[in-house]
Amino acid sequence: MNLLAIVGSPRKGKATDTLVDKAIEGLKSVHPNCNVKKIHLADQDIQYCKDCLACWKSKTKGPIAKCAIRDDMDQINEEILKTDCLIIGTPIHMAYASALMMTFLERICWTFAKPEKSYVLVKGCPAPRSDKKRKAAIIAVSGMIPPRYKRLCNQATTQIKGVIKDSLNADTVGKLYAGDLWNRGVEHYLDDAFKLGKKLS
Ligand SMILES: Cc1cc2nc3c(=O)[nH]c(=O)nc-3n(C[C@H](O)[C@H](O)[C@H](O)COP(=O)(O)O)c2cc1C
Repeated sequence: MNLLAIVGSPRKGKATDTLVDKAIEGLKSVHPNCNVKKIHLADQDIQYCKDCLACWKSKTKGPIAKCAIRDDMDQINEEILKTDCLIIGTPIHMAYASALMMTFLERICWTFAKPEKSYVLVKGCPAPRSDKKRKAAIIAVSGMIPPRYKRLCNQATTQIKGVIKDSLNADTVGKLYAGDLWNRGVEHYLDDAFKLGKKLS
C-alpha cells in the first residue's frame, strides 16, 4: 500500500505538518508496512499553471496527460500515479486553501482529468483519466475560526475534495477541520488526526 501525503503549509513543523504526521501514524498503526511519501509543497519548484491547455487537449489514453511545464511536478506526478491513498493538509488562508495548495491543485486538475463528463447541460467537465480508485483524507487548519463556524472559513475542504475526486479518482473517506488553533493548540486535534489516518485503511 502506498500513501502520498501533501503538506500545503509554508511552515514546516507547524500545525498542518504535525497533524499530517499524526494521520500518517494512524494509518501506519493499521498498515505498518505502508510505503509513505510526504511532500512539502513549499520545498518544491511548482510553477503556476499557464492555461496553455496542452493537458486539456491531450488525446492520451493513459492516466496522465503531459503538462507543458518542466518542474518538480514531474516527480510529484510519478508519486501520484503510484499512490493508493492520499493525505492532503492545508492551512486555511482567507477561507480557502493556501496558495501553495491551490497552485498544486491547478496543476493536477487537467493533467489527471479529461474533459469528458457532463453535468446536466454542461459538457466537458473533468473525469479522471485513470480507473484506479484511491482514498483520501483532508486536513484543514485555521487559526481563528472554531469548528462551530467552519462554514464561514472552510472552503478548502470542499474544493480539495472535488478536485481529487474529479482528477485523481480519490474518494474522501474522512476530513478534519482543526479550527481555532491559535487558542486550542495543535494538541487538541492530535487524536482526531490519528483516527483520520486509520480511516484510510
Ligand atoms: C495569509 C493568511 C490568511 C489566513 N486566513 C485565515 C482565515 O481566513 N481564517 C482563519 O481562521 N485563519 C487564517 N489564517 C491563519 C492560519 O490558518 C493559521 O495560522 C494556520 O494555523 C496555519 O497553519 P500552519 O501552522 O500549518 O502554518 C491565515 C493565515 C495567513 C498567513
